[in-house]
Amino acid sequence: MGMERTVDMQWGPALELGHAGIDADHRSLLETLNRLRQAVRQDQGREEIQAVLLFLRDYTVSHFATEEGLMLQHGYPGTSAHLTAHADLVMQLSDLVADYRAGKAQLTEALLTFLEAWLVEHIQGLDREFGWYLRGRGLAS
Ligand SMILES: [Fe+2]
Ligand SMILES: [Fe+2]
Repeated sequence: MGMERTVDMQWGPALELGHAGIDADHRSLLETLNRLRQAVRQDQGREEIQAVLLFLRDYTVSHFATEEGLMLQHGYPGTSAHLTAHADLVMQLSDLVADYRAGKAQLTEALLTFLEAWLVEHIQGLDREFGWYLRGRGLAS
């Protein structure tokens, strides 16, 4: 119990990469995770939780496609490792959606914390490196 996060994760400069489109996506992803945690904590029901979970998966897929499009367009050398990380999370999210729909998965605090940690680490790691690349070429807006 002591490890539970008691406040929502806040958007802030530590998560900004300096690319307006990517930053806006990341902010929405964070807000969606907060919404999911709220739905779980307030026990808003399986239908609502499933709807937020589906939105999270679809938004994630679309955000990853946006980043990958930029990587390919600008010849980013770190593309393949980054694609692998994206594919890995999409698979986990898809499994989670399927299991939740089948009544085989619960959205636990630990699972929500894992998703948040994944997002923050990815933004501050691989995404930040890609942000530097774009900025170094004057491609960030
Ligand atoms: Fe990203
Ligand atoms: Fe990424």
